[in-house]
Amino acid sequence: MIELIKAGLAMGWPALALLVALMFYFKLSISDPVANKRAVFKTFIGILGAMLLFMAVANYKMNFFAESRLLPVSLVLITSMAFMMALYFTNISALLKIGGFMFFIAAALSGYGNWLPQVEGGFPPIEEKKDFSNMPQTELADEGEKIIFGGVGQNKVQGAIGKGQCPLCHAFHKGMLGERAPNLDGLPERAATQIDDARYHKGNPAARDSSQKESFPGSGTAENAQEYIAESHSCPSCFVVAGYGVKGTNDKESPMPAIHKPPISLSLPELAAVDTWLYVREGREAPSFDEIVKSYEKFIPESDRPKPPTEGDAKPGASALMADGTEPVDQIFSKGQCVACHTIPGIAGATGTIGPKLVEGTNAPLRIKDKEYKGKAKSVPDYIMESIIEPSAYVVKGFPDNTMPKVFGQKLSAGALKKIVDYLSQVQEGKEPPKTS
Ligand code: HEC
Ligand code: HEC
Repeated sequence: MIELIKAGLAMGWPALALLVALMFYFKLSISDPVANKRAVFKTFIGILGAMLLFMAVANYKMNFFAESRLLPVSLVLITSMAFMMALYFTNISALLKIGGFMFFIAAALSGYGNWLPQVEGGFPPIEEKKDFSNMPQTELADEGEKIIFGGVGQNKVQGAIGKGQCPLCHAFHKGMLGERAPNLDGLPERAATQIDDARYHKGNPAARDSSQKESFPGSGTAENAQEYIAESHSCPSCFVVAGYGVKGTNDKESPMPAIHKPPISLSLPELAAVDTWLYVREGREAPSFDEIVKSYEKFIPESDRPKPPTEGDAKPGASALMADGTEPVDQIFSKGQCVACHTIPGIAGATGTIGPKLVEGTNAPLRIKDKEYKGKAKSVPDYIMESIIEPSAYVVKGFPDNTMPKVFGQKLSAGALKKIVDYLSQVQEGKEPPKTS
């Protein structure tokens, strides 16, 4: 209230000052003491009315952009102003009463509307089309952080994840555990020495013992740190960091998805933003946008480069969820990266070995019966849902805790989760897998 009076005064003080001056003028010019008193009183009421009006406008101004329920306050103030004036300014009383009544109705209606549950309305946020190619480096780094973590300043927030999906597998800070993938702290410096590793075979891809020797025939190997990063992102199996390969392949094959391919599909400018953040956040100068894009062109042939998103396919909120549930279940498994860590019968490409094979029709009943089981599930679908939303509720023996990401409850729609649960409930050891459609 005090705030309001202050704000009202701030806006209306010239008008108020004028009124006060008028009041003294009247007092001086009217000699009849009764008429004089009445004039002074009327001016005083006028001032009060004006004050209420200014407060109403100030309240409207202050709360217009905030998601506030205080807007009707303005209307109530104007209503009281109108009725009060009507009492004393008898010559225009009818007019003021009608006006006051209209404001009263408006206040009642908008007050009622405001107290109903607030529904997110209006336009879906449209992703701004930004030109990454001539941004200052710090701004480009911010865009990179948004792609990796979903927002600027989110890089230390547990579970923050953006469309690049890197935090599903990677830790980015010293001391943060990432058993499933190398910690990317210090990457720019390490990248420069990785290419001198005997297992890297710089300049001689044919000598590599990895499942894929080159990104594409003739692409060659990385010659500098930035090219190493570009190759790591576009051809993970070209060189597999020791100890992190798919189980049983002797580090010949990487579980990391190629970042420019579906489902992640980062465009070259987006990859440049990601890389720029990796340098800038360590206080380093990143290579220029053009240099980074060129390093990717070395490993990603023209035909494989995702088109930067255009106006047409900017689906509202598309970046927020990994899968919205309209996709067939096999796509949901690949969009959620489940396929990188789990073998799932009947799902092409789901050959991961970081987590257990998902034969949940067989597994789930055994888990629930296990005397170590402390979760709440009583049925197969309950157990699967719990494993996805709260992976640490029960940790499958022989697998590490905290490896299965804990983000899927937020990152998959209810519809997508239901499709996963329906599918996995039907998968049994030694039986035909269910149909995916
Ligand atoms: C499904 C898990 C997964 C996801 C998602 C993933 N990575 Fe990886 N990444 C790995 C694994 C495992 C390795 C180690 C094996 C290898 O060298 O390919 C790796 C290796 C790397 C390397 C080489 C590290 C080094 O020390 O030499 C870089 C760089 C990298 N990832 C960056 C990224 C970025 C950036 C993203 C997101 C845009 C990402 N990764 C997403 C699993 C993942
Ligand atoms: C980065 C690797 C990783 C990713 C990605 C991943 N998981 Fe897992 N998952 C694991 C590991 C490791 C375990 C075993 C440890 C545990 O129980 O937490 C596990 C356990 C499970 C279990 C329990 C299995 C059982 O037999 O009891 C289910 C169900 C499951 N994951 C489903 C999923 C689904 C669905 C997705 C994708 C939306 C997914 N996981 C993504 C690593 C992963």
